[in-house]
Amino acid sequence: MKMKSKKKVLLCITGSIAAYKSPEIIRILKSKGFEVKALMSKNACNFITPLTIQTLTGQDLPPYYDSNNTEYSMHHINLAKWADVILVAPATADIISKLTCGDAGNLITSTILASKAKTLIAPAMNKNMWDSQSVQGNLRVLNERDIKCIAPGIGSQACGDYGSGNMASPNSVINSIINDNSKEYSFFLNKKVLITAGPTQEKIDPVRYISNYSSGKMGYALAEVMYDYGAQVTVITGPSHERRQSGINYIDVVSAKEMHDITVEHSVDYDVFIAAAAVADYSPIDTYHKKIKKDGDFITLKLKQNIDILASITTKYPNRINVGFAAETNIIDDEIMAKLKKKKCDILIANEVGGGKGFNSNYNKATIYTKNEKTGIGFDSKINIAKKIISFISKYYSC
Ligand code: CTP
Repeated sequence: MKMKSKKKVLLCITGSIAAYKSPEIIRILKSKGFEVKALMSKNACNFITPLTIQTLTGQDLPPYYDSNNTEYSMHHINLAKWADVILVAPATADIISKLTCGDAGNLITSTILASKAKTLIAPAMNKNMWDSQSVQGNLRVLNERDIKCIAPGIGSQACGDYGSGNMASPNSVINSIINDNSKEYSFFLNKKVLITAGPTQEKIDPVRYISNYSSGKMGYALAEVMYDYGAQVTVITGPSHERRQSGINYIDVVSAKEMHDITVEHSVDYDVFIAAAAVADYSPIDTYHKKIKKDGDFITLKLKQNIDILASITTKYPNRINVGFAAETNIIDDEIMAKLKKKKCDILIANEVGGGKGFNSNYNKATIYTKNEKTGIGFDSKINIAKKIISFISKYYSC
């Protein structure tokens, strides 16, 4: 990842339980060569101690306003000029509202108002607060003023609710700072991404199923890369043992039918859909509640074709960004172009499977097809293949 010239980060910590992630943000920033200073709101001091933050940053002054200290008289201006980047993490609904109004009533808001530094905010709040028209309206205003929002993740919340509003992970926040000028970041920031990943399992009886060798690695890698570029990512995943990244919403399914139904349910307001799952093409017509007993040399299973998830989504939402995969042992251009047309997607990524590539491997060899062009992206680790695909998508749709 290319580091920008920006080196001095002012971290503003406001009063949310997510403040427990702030020391980790400081630690990672410093390990990546950034100089860090911090400010804390009064409420943030109720969640973590100013001493922790001052010790980690190594700054001279404590990270909060001290009215008895004369060194504070021009502190907001000094900090405003010092910072290359201002990062508000966690950013509460309250600070977001104050920034929208141009409030200068405390050290954090007055510093941001006085600064020309690139400013990013990492919101953290309850899902209903996050979804509220007030917060979303404020974020739109801030976005127009080039104060970028690092999308929160979806998950269980401190209050017991489940939904959007959890502050992005420290790594994701830092990647946003590093990438904030990249085309990919500008493209994916706050986009809603839906990905199918992994295999599906089609039940025969309580002990048997039909499936394939897919591990889910490619879909999970794509999810992580887009999450790092600021997208809100939901992965609808068949059985997979891959590591899960906090902040990404994973929904577990087993069969093709379940994957289809959940994908359709979540497709209402997505911006980007990537069908990376290796969906079983057929499933047994009859499933048995008891184990099928051995009886004779042969057995016949009647299978029916599963519904095509990608085609269902592209038919319903032809004008959104729809990307498919084609897993092939032998890639033939005409066949891929026919699949692209049949599946009605703009981009189809053909990957070779078998021989250590594709299924259940950390490596992949892929070629990206659109109706007009074919771009080879070579043999590489799945995470690098994911980055190349994401970069291609952002370029393709920015043109
Ligand atoms: N796909 C899907 N639902 C299915 C089958 C496939 O969404 N029931 C999606 C896959 O996730 C992939 C694309 O369609 O993005 C192509 O999958 P692939 O297995 O290569 O093609 P099939 O349509 O299954 O055709 P075939 O196996 O005959 O090549």
